[in-house]
Amino acid sequence: MSSTAVDFARQNYPRFLDELKSLLRIPSISTLPEHADDCRKAAQTLATEMQRIGMENVRLIETSGHPLVYADWLHAAGKPTVLVYGHYDVQPPDPLDEWLSPPFEPTIRDGNIYARGAVDDKGQVVAQVKALESLLAATGKLPLNVRVLFEGEEEVGGEGIAKFVASKPPELKADFALVSDTELFAPGLPTLCVGLRGMIYTELEVKSSRTDLHSGMYGGAAPNAFVSLVHILAKLKDENGHILIPGFYDDIIPPSAEELAAWKSLPFDEEEYRAKEVGSKQLVGEAGYNVMERTWARPTVDIHGIPGGFTGAGAKTVIPAKATAKVSMRLVPGMTPAKAFALYKSYVEKIAPKEVDVDVRLIHSGDPCLIPVNNKYIQAATRALHEVWGKDTVFIRSGGSIPIVGDFDRHLGLPSVMMGFGLPDDNLHAPNEKFHLKNFELGIISLIRFMEEAGA
Ligand code: BES
Ligand code: MN
Ligand code: MN
Repeated sequence: MSSTAVDFARQNYPRFLDELKSLLRIPSISTLPEHADDCRKAAQTLATEMQRIGMENVRLIETSGHPLVYADWLHAAGKPTVLVYGHYDVQPPDPLDEWLSPPFEPTIRDGNIYARGAVDDKGQVVAQVKALESLLAATGKLPLNVRVLFEGEEEVGGEGIAKFVASKPPELKADFALVSDTELFAPGLPTLCVGLRGMIYTELEVKSSRTDLHSGMYGGAAPNAFVSLVHILAKLKDENGHILIPGFYDDIIPPSAEELAAWKSLPFDEEEYRAKEVGSKQLVGEAGYNVMERTWARPTVDIHGIPGGFTGAGAKTVIPAKATAKVSMRLVPGMTPAKAFALYKSYVEKIAPKEVDVDVRLIHSGDPCLIPVNNKYIQAATRALHEVWGKDTVFIRSGGSIPIVGDFDRHLGLPSVMMGFGLPDDNLHAPNEKFHLKNFELGIISLIRFMEEAGA
């Protein structure tokens, strides 16, 4: 690859890695209020960095939650404008005792950097910034117009950025978005993600009595919030993975025959996925759908936690008055968060045992999205990826959600190029999250070459 910017990136790679480490040391956990200052610090670090590399109009944009980071460089007359997106917030690191090295002390082992946020999404955000730095430092300019928008609430639903984008501010006028928050389908295989699931994240609360009660004195006569909650939860999905909420599947738009055929030809070994990646005795899910269809094109119901009652060491004989479950659903194209939530809520109210009160609350939601692939930006991306990785790009969907990507299309009319460099076994949201260093390096180079191609 002969690009002076690529040469600059190769020469400065050790420093780039150090800068990634500094960002990874900031515990910017968006969901925990006690880390709000750390979120701001991560935002400020990125802003300072963008100022240093020569981006303009750099500033933090305040939201109801953690700030957005904005920067631009708009001197490529006649060239398209890209909106570069990523998120600086991370998931909580727990369970802490399963980490081999502390989550906020980035550690390099066998070609990977381990830390919370390594791949999701700080490593990829830094790759974007380093691509911009390399272009600016090596050539004194950028090959296209660039606006950068980083958020700090992606992992909690992205309310702040959603409001900002919906207001269609002039700062976001662009031709396409570049989102680096996804993964390769397999190591060494250049991948563009063209579809994401949406989601609704909810809390389901059951109240059964005036106060907690002695389980000997009252057990047998008084209702138990946990027992009632478990009855409700057990009726959300049957043993075959079929969701029991009436109407839940009605609006799904299935993938096209071409897309399904393309998925069948991806290099995928279901047995290896079960044994190595998932590590379970068996896979679950709906009959008649393969793993790709189950995770990319079918909705889910999952239970994340059931706080309440007695959870300390030892035993306490109590009938809890209150029980809550955190329940989310992944949505696929055709479904909307509003309708999915309404169907779920009315079903829960209908099946709830008569002796308890239930309250179903929506915590956050995001739409599913499907990206059109026949545009020049996707073509520029596949040219750049071929050059860097020496292979044709595969187009995949992902079962995860990035709520703002749908909004880029709906409110700003922007097609997104989802070019990310994670690997399937990077342990996103789990202990020992990592980013493969080769992917960090080739990711920077791919982003440089993509911007050069998109501006060519
Ligand atoms: N980067 C992920 C989404 C993702 C994961 C895309 C793997 C492609 C491959 C993102 O940070 C994420 O985790 N999103 C949350 C969003 C939710 C909290 C609204 C998710 O999917 O759970
Ligand atoms: Mn992410
Ligand atoms: Mn995430």
